[in-house]
Amino acid sequence: MTDPKPPRGLARGLTNYGDAGFAVYLRRSFAKSMGYSGEMLERPIVGVAYTPSGFNNCHRHFPELLEAVKRGVLAAGGLPLEFPTVSLGEVFLSPTSLFYRNLMAMDTEEMIRAQPIDSVVLMGGCDKTVPAQLMGAASAGRPAIQLVAGPMLTSRHGDERLGACTDCRRFWGKYRAGEVSDDEIHAIEGGLATTSGTCSVMGTASTMACLAETLGMMPPGTATIPAVHADRLRAAEATGRRAVEMIGSDRTPDRIITEDSLDNALRVLLALGGSTNAVVHLAAIAGRLGLKVSLDRLNGLSDETPVLVNLKPTGDHYMEDFFAAGGLGAVLRELEPLLRLDCPTVDGRTLGERIAAGRDAYVDRSVIRPFDDPVEPVGGLVALFGSLAPRGAILKRSAADSRLFEREGRAVVFESLEDLATRIDDPDLDVTPDDILVLQNAGPKSPSGMPEAGYLPIPAKLARAGVKDMVRISDARMSGTAFGTIVLHVTPDAASGGPLALARSGDRIRLSVSERRLDLMVADDELARRRAERERAPARPTATRGYAKLYYDSVLQADEGCDFDFLRGGGGGPPGDDI
Ligand code: FES
Repeated sequence: MTDPKPPRGLARGLTNYGDAGFAVYLRRSFAKSMGYSGEMLERPIVGVAYTPSGFNNCHRHFPELLEAVKRGVLAAGGLPLEFPTVSLGEVFLSPTSLFYRNLMAMDTEEMIRAQPIDSVVLMGGCDKTVPAQLMGAASAGRPAIQLVAGPMLTSRHGDERLGACTDCRRFWGKYRAGEVSDDEIHAIEGGLATTSGTCSVMGTASTMACLAETLGMMPPGTATIPAVHADRLRAAEATGRRAVEMIGSDRTPDRIITEDSLDNALRVLLALGGSTNAVVHLAAIAGRLGLKVSLDRLNGLSDETPVLVNLKPTGDHYMEDFFAAGGLGAVLRELEPLLRLDCPTVDGRTLGERIAAGRDAYVDRSVIRPFDDPVEPVGGLVALFGSLAPRGAILKRSAADSRLFEREGRAVVFESLEDLATRIDDPDLDVTPDDILVLQNAGPKSPSGMPEAGYLPIPAKLARAGVKDMVRISDARMSGTAFGTIVLHVTPDAASGGPLALARSGDRIRLSVSERRLDLMVADDELARRRAERERAPARPTATRGYAKLYYDSVLQADEGCDFDFLRGGGGGPPGDDI
């Protein structure tokens, strides 16, 4: 006769000594060495994937947040046990944080599965941490609930508000153009990021927080609460409580992250004018569950989903203003006619029930616009296809200069980031404001691991002449806090032999946002000649050991989320494991 009750708590997933009784006895005796009572060790266990780090300023307040999570778990009858995983502090990682996102996802997945965890709270926030945790949790298959760091507060420089990191770039651009002195840029450096929490604009971290809530993986109303606000601690406590309630339920990530909830997430991404990085991350999360985020689908949704929020980097306001204005709930209510409302959430309610519950909440219309009077009538992102990007590229049109949307221009090509750094400010660089800057070899297969380098600087001599924007094209990514007419994620990337690798300075490139096209205007026979020449060149050395070897052997292209090929689909626990 089989035991009708699957093992819970410490008795779950025992170490295999060939004697289950001995394994649980040994585990309990070692757990008792941590001072837990027998009553506590009988409880179901909520694991807390815990990611503070001396190299992650955004997670500085996690010790206090953890205490609140534990309070909620204990109050609901569970035993909270935190465990560390890889933490990714965006600006402290080389070559890029994306390069290590899959390492964090693997760490998260394996530690959820390997340890006696009945449900898990995912504590993340900084850019790549939330997608990494959602990827790992989707594959691990246990009930999981996301808690984010929340955004930083802004500060002041004179009469201007300062917030990471749109203002970082804005003032650096002024500094490069000679409009800001050395002393002033030093003063600004000290005021851009002054509290714990994630960047204070609708960058990648804030976008992914809003998408995690839209997907249904986070308690309603918690995505935008500032990091230092007391409401964030209450949200942490509620998250801990909910994690206990989810134990034994069917609210596993595969039931919550579905084609329908991914469609909802794309809608919200477009309405937020959110980060281009989110397209990559959503594709990776979906891929873990055998689902696909199609760029054609993105275009279809983009044509009928307006931009509703007036937030930096494309608008005027910061995340703390968005929270005070009504936050994500207000955006969901405006989008309600377009959303799939029967999607389940970790909250226990459907998305539609959650939206209905907030019907009378206050909304500040200077920050969150009504559906019939939007900031922009169409979505913030658009995918482009053509001979330069057969599998697609992304343009954040809400952050771009629409006067540059229909344009044919001369290419000025940089073969690598090193080449870019060497020549972009050369007074002798042959470049005009009507040219198109092209960066090669900055995609997922490149040595630089797809950095946020797509925001190519305006050449110094043009910046000093007052040029603020140019068409820029690359296989790199762009920070969610950046802006400009910047075409990103050209796929396949140059390092894996995509057509981008064949572009040369002087070629003509045609961009048409209205036609969703990006074309290299070079004859086929000339491209064939260049391809043959490229194939005769000596092969680039690749990594021979360690994580770098795993990365370069396995990383997929941007349209597949830059996940590893062996991690897609087929999640769940080890054979015989219950959920
Ligand atoms: Fe962590 Fe921007 S540096 S979110």
